[in-house]
Amino acid sequence: MRAADVSSDITRVLVTEEEIRTKLDDIAAQVASDYDGKDLLLVGVLKGAVMVMADFSRALPTLVPMDWMAVSSYGAGTKSSGVVQIRKDLDTDLHGKHVLIVEDIIDSGLTLSWLLENFASRGAASVEVFALLRKPEAAKVVVHCKYVGFDIPTEFVVGYGLDYAEKYRNLRDVAILAPHVYA
Ligand code: PRP
Repeated sequence: MRAADVSSDITRVLVTEEEIRTKLDDIAAQVASDYDGKDLLLVGVLKGAVMVMADFSRALPTLVPMDWMAVSSYGAGTKSSGVVQIRKDLDTDLHGKHVLIVEDIIDSGLTLSWLLENFASRGAASVEVFALLRKPEAAKVVVHCKYVGFDIPTEFVVGYGLDYAEKYRNLRDVAILAPHVYA
């Protein structure tokens, strides 16, 4: 856990730092094989995906460019509003690129669904998704996700990039936030 003594804010650790590292190594090996010889571009979705992008990109055996998009649908609350705002667009022309969107979590799926639709007209050779975490029971729309780290229960989770009101992002593990924090 580390970072600070936040144990009273946490119900329990759900995915440890070690489990994340092992999973990222496995998925990086799979991605390296699947995209061998292809013009791969990683697109991270700020801010939550910063940690997973940093560790996943360095687990890849080859050099790979990355770009970032900042979108937000949650604000400071715990529920997706469904209204996605672009706060920073890509700097890269997607024409001919094999895009792999890197996300920390798929919750309702609304953010990614919107993003995939937004990318559809940008001329990429392919667009796929890697999400470290997914909440299958929270899905409001079906999103095809080629690479998934962990399917998790519908709990409010923080850490490893995930926040509540901008707090807890730099916890090393993924943990369930205690309800008294956000109730
Ligand atoms: C979080 C997360 C995903 C999205 C998933 O981002 O990083 O992008 O919510 O939720 P959904 O599947 O219900 O759409 P958020 O909007 O909280 O912004 P942040 O990454 O800056 O924390």
